[in-house]
Amino acid sequence: MTFPPNFAEQGSLFFGADYNPEQWPEEVWPQDIALMQDAGINLVTVGVFSWAQLEPEEGRWNFGWLDRILDLLHDGGIRVDLATPTASPPPWLGHRYPGSLPQDADGRTLWYGSRNQFNPSSSAYRRAAASVTEALARRYGSHPAVAMWHVGNELGQVSFDDETAHAFRGWLQKRHGSLEELNAAWGTAFWSQRYSSWEEILPPRRAPYIGNPAQALDFKRFTSDELLSLYRLQRDIIRRHDPEKPVTTNLMGFFPGADYFSLAPETDVVANDWYTDPADPGSRELGALTHDLCRGLGSGRPWLLLESATSAVNWRSHNVPKAPGALRIDALSAVARGADGICFFQFRQSAAGAERFHSAVVPLAGADTRVYRETAALGKSLRALAPVTGTGVPASVAILFDWDSWWAAEESARPSERLRVMDQMLSFYRPLLRHGIAVEVVHPGSDLSRFALVLAPNLFLLRAAHAEALEEYAAAGGAFLAGPFTGVADENARLATGRFPALLRRCLGVSGEEWVPLAKPAAVAFASPAAPAGTAYFWAEDLRLDGARALACFSSGPLAGKPALTHHPYGSGQAWYVGADLDDAALSAVVMDAVAAAGITSVFSGGLPDDVEAVHRGQWLFLLNHGGVRRSVRAPAAGTDLLTGHRAGPDLELEPYGAVVLELSGSARNNVNDETIRTTHEIH
Ligand code: GLA
Repeated sequence: MTFPPNFAEQGSLFFGADYNPEQWPEEVWPQDIALMQDAGINLVTVGVFSWAQLEPEEGRWNFGWLDRILDLLHDGGIRVDLATPTASPPPWLGHRYPGSLPQDADGRTLWYGSRNQFNPSSSAYRRAAASVTEALARRYGSHPAVAMWHVGNELGQVSFDDETAHAFRGWLQKRHGSLEELNAAWGTAFWSQRYSSWEEILPPRRAPYIGNPAQALDFKRFTSDELLSLYRLQRDIIRRHDPEKPVTTNLMGFFPGADYFSLAPETDVVANDWYTDPADPGSRELGALTHDLCRGLGSGRPWLLLESATSAVNWRSHNVPKAPGALRIDALSAVARGADGICFFQFRQSAAGAERFHSAVVPLAGADTRVYRETAALGKSLRALAPVTGTGVPASVAILFDWDSWWAAEESARPSERLRVMDQMLSFYRPLLRHGIAVEVVHPGSDLSRFALVLAPNLFLLRAAHAEALEEYAAAGGAFLAGPFTGVADENARLATGRFPALLRRCLGVSGEEWVPLAKPAAVAFASPAAPAGTAYFWAEDLRLDGARALACFSSGPLAGKPALTHHPYGSGQAWYVGADLDDAALSAVVMDAVAAAGITSVFSGGLPDDVEAVHRGQWLFLLNHGGVRRSVRAPAAGTDLLTGHRAGPDLELEPYGAVVLELSGSARNNVNDETIRTTHEIH
């Protein structure tokens, strides 16, 4: 199944929301559909939390209401993303089958009365989930309203109960083969942890002191695989009844509970949920990085923003609404970064239940509201942007990310809890974002040859095969920049012996002997007089040059005089190593030097104005102002603004939360952006 088969015919972006009609009397439904039409909504996700309505008692089905709403939606020209309701089992399931409920690491049961109260390894839960999926897919497999299937919701549960322990053992047997190998992989000679039978092995339940990091890592992998198998279970049932339409599930970006590089390839289109935090100006940076991950997860293909908020959420401690105009800019940022659809949680604000204070397309105050009007205005913008559907976002920079490595890097009892993978990811990403340079977030095992520059901000766990691929990439002419605490551990979280980073020493031309978390910030002096003075705040590494040149050294603190940043020509390429948590300005200089050395030029080499985002998608340049202040920006050439149809540029004034989507002619595109030329990446 390739996405978008039936979607392509549509010739426009998808625009919609989660729609939970069961929360409202049926008289409201026709009004809902009229408002959807008015706002330009063309896709709604239905049924995500409807299990108790569909199957009020075990085996007793109640499909009448769903028949009626699907028919109404179809008549209204609104397509349906039909969900399996398996994220929230009805109370009868937990009541009758307590094993379907998850247990935490302390052995406490998590009860019904909320949602997500299922144990991914429970046979009772799996039986019931399969049964409701079967009933749904059989009944609606060829319903004309259904355009897409949606499995569960934000798969991410974990349980530590006995049935899970049993499944974990089976998983471990497959992974390690024998107990001897498991004992070796987990390093159980330490603290007398040697296992003498499979039955002794448990999930990492609450223990008196620090747990075994390899056990914790395997349990995270196992849990991720259990979630994947739950997805497949439902997807395969759907497929039997509807072999045609795309099946997906909504991911959560950089979510630690499941390895999306395993899950995403099993979906027909990558679908993601992203909630900007209006109170945090840095939130849009994580949003952009997350969108760039969505493309990486789908091998560059367009993806769907399946859930986002029109205004405030209700699950942060202090829920600031979006400023007027931010709803559209947030959505356009996702489109610029490859989304072919924008959907919200949810269509009509709930009056009851845990999410009654969450914003929606239609607030409790009704449609005569700012939020509804802004949503409808976005619908208009998305219609104007229809030509971008299906186009790609060429990127010549890759940022490597690996869930295994993230899990392993953040186990407890490490040199410093201040060094965090996502902070490092953002630190290396920010300069690229500020210069309008496109990035794809990819797995270290992917084909790197299509990128001119590869960054590994913090790849703590590095498999030998991936280290070799990185070496080969650099030797063959690539530019490779590695961040601190990279290449430290193998796939069992066992630290490499010898000077670090053992597997990358040859390529980087530098090696270290001690990680040095800093008691106080240390100064970093660059060799080049043009470079800024730098600071390492909390992290340093005691490095020795083994062929590399020091581009910067610590000039104060415990490592004064020793290298902090190195450069090494390698084969026909080059490699940099950053052995410190450099401040923003210094790291930006490092990253932008690597960009230049890799032959990547940016239209915005002087940097973008604050709050302005610039992204090339297809033949269009998106210029978006995420702030409340008007900004001037110079585009590479004049062009037609797809949003208005008017000629614009090259000098542009972006209004507060304003946007311009310039269509650039082929020559303007090629002259201004080597990235566009360099990329060999095509959308299929
Ligand atoms: C996620 C969930 C939705 C809802 C929203 C609230 O997107 O999938 O069901 O809880 O969060 O922001």
